[in-house]
Amino acid sequence: MKLILIGFMGSGKSTVGKLLGQRHSLPVIDLDQAIEEAASQTIPAIFATHGETYFRKLEHQVLATVIDQPGILATGGGTPLRADNQALLQNAAVPIIHLRANAKETLSRLGNTQNRPLAKGLDQAGIEALKKQRHQAYQACANYTIETNLLSPMEVALAIEARVPF
Ligand code: S3P
Repeated sequence: MKLILIGFMGSGKSTVGKLLGQRHSLPVIDLDQAIEEAASQTIPAIFATHGETYFRKLEHQVLATVIDQPGILATGGGTPLRADNQALLQNAAVPIIHLRANAKETLSRLGNTQNRPLAKGLDQAGIEALKKQRHQAYQACANYTIETNLLSPMEVALAIEARVPF
């Protein structure tokens, strides 16, 4: 890996990852997509049929297989929660960028989400509470945090480029 993006659902990891991949001709691995390919099931279907614990195990296994591949990794919003995932991310020894947005902005970006089981039905207060619960885990992993509330994906990409040599 050259760069790892972490952050809450809707923080822009996948969008910004793709943009950086295009700009620097680097492969992009989207962990959620890699999990869906490994399971031959969508994430909502994995949650519905096997539950979150099973999803987290799979997420860990897939992370362990992709972490040494070249390019940019866009993680899932819950990836940094497990200590063993934190260790995998940190041992990659590449910049880990935490993308942040406030709860109001997160809610508007997620919209009426059907493909994120853990965000389904959450209002702004619910998002705020989950973000708070996770804050520590993101901070423990991150080398840089970027506040994305007022930034377009391109502006976020530029902010990353200003911090990380490509
Ligand atoms: C999750 C975030 C999702 C996905 C799964 C669980 C989470 O990824 O991995 O639905 O626990 O926050 P995105 O952050 O890409 O939506």
